Amino acid sequence: TLGSAGLLLPALTDVAQAADLDAASIPRFTRAMPLSPVLRPSLQSSGAAFYRMTMRETTAEIVPGLRTRVRTFNGSFPGPVVRAVSGRPVVIVQTNALDVDTAIHLHGGHVPPESDGAPMDLVPARGGSRAYVYPNQQPHANLWFHDHAHHMESENVFRGLTALYLITDDIERGLNLPSGDQDVPIALRDARFDSDGQFVYVMGDFQQRNVILANGSAWPYFEVEARTYRLRLFNTSNQRFFKIGLSDGSEFTQIGSDGGLLAAPFPTTSLPLSPGERADVVVDFSRYPVGTRLVLSNGQDGPDALTAQLLQFRVVAAKGPDTSTVPDVLRTLPALPPATAFRDVALSMDEGPVAPGTEPQGYINGRVYDPDRVDTVIPYGSTEVWTVTNTNRFVPHNLHIHLVQFRVLERNGRPVVSGPESGLKDTVSLFPGETVKLQATFTGYRGRYLYHCHLIDHAAMGMMATMQIV
Ligand code: C2O
Ligand code: CU
Repeated sequence: TLGSAGLLLPALTDVAQAADLDAASIPRFTRAMPLSPVLRPSLQSSGAAFYRMTMRETTAEIVPGLRTRVRTFNGSFPGPVVRAVSGRPVVIVQTNALDVDTAIHLHGGHVPPESDGAPMDLVPARGGSRAYVYPNQQPHANLWFHDHAHHMESENVFRGLTALYLITDDIERGLNLPSGDQDVPIALRDARFDSDGQFVYVMGDFQQRNVILANGSAWPYFEVEARTYRLRLFNTSNQRFFKIGLSDGSEFTQIGSDGGLLAAPFPTTSLPLSPGERADVVVDFSRYPVGTRLVLSNGQDGPDALTAQLLQFRVVAAKGPDTSTVPDVLRTLPALPPATAFRDVALSMDEGPVAPGTEPQGYINGRVYDPDRVDTVIPYGSTEVWTVTNTNRFVPHNLHIHLVQFRVLERNGRPVVSGPESGLKDTVSLFPGETVKLQATFTGYRGRYLYHCHLIDHAAMGMMATMQIV
């Protein structure tokens, strides 16, 4: 079904000039996977940490032998990592040295509206700056930040404006999970290049974005010791859904999702990850002989064999003893308060031909995003159950809600009691025809926030809406 959807978006192809780089010609597993640099604060006080970042264009060797122009935070591709502590505010002053306006959203963050990176709250191009305040009044979680400027977010994200933001707390630190060099954030995405190595961005295109990047490098390898690793996986793709596994089909353990650790570890061989979602997994490489080569695989996307591999692990001898453990109980999730309101949310976009000269649009409850319109008024403190449906026949979507971490109560009428969707979530996938019931409590801040499809090309086509907490 993912493949057939591509046929429905025919009209937007006039952007590409040079011939495409053939993804099959890119050498695989010849370069080590880069690790995202950890940003150091420019100033630390006892109360807060202050960072300065500059968004600017630079080049990066994403495909071996080619240099690609990228839009970055601090010249870093893959984007840098901010490490934050629950309860300790972070202030980031963002300066925009790009030629395009931006708006920086901390995805999964519980932040005041003026720091949420709303689509019209711009950091002006060519020298504008803005201070974003992140109170971090939330538990540990693997967050990320990315551009959200109206109609530009999709292209800016594609061209590199993403970075990671990891919040830790005493719950997480009290566990003895793999840490240090054995705790590795990995941002996974797809991309498309021309034969000069430049990105080819075409709105709505996904069939031809068939080069896989892991931490900003095309099909790298990663050397692991024969011991246990924690891999924090992020799907930073514009539109690609992953189904992550190991090439020998063996089991690994999911320990966390968007909003931090699950209540209990979940052993699995296949992990779906839609755009914007995160999964924290533990892989035991001690079961493999030294010298083993193993691939982090992608088990879906129909006939597109090019993208069936994500990166390669190379097992080397352990340099020290492994004392980490994954306990049977990881955390206690907050109790679910009784719901006070119920809403229906329908996601759709134009399928099939659109009128000549027009482009396909995306809708939430039948309406295209309008930054001046409030679509949903939510009383402060209310606990709501949203029944979210993808009413399309072919096109997959997901739903991301700003400000909150929600719980998935049901998928297609079946209660979610364990597994990957049983923890705190901020993004949930919806294949064509699927319905998900989720519950969220809206506290902390009043003001306007977005909810939208995180296939970010769809968001740029209008599949966004505004809620106002009053
Ligand atoms: Cu990650 Cu509103 O987005
Ligand atoms: Cu969508």
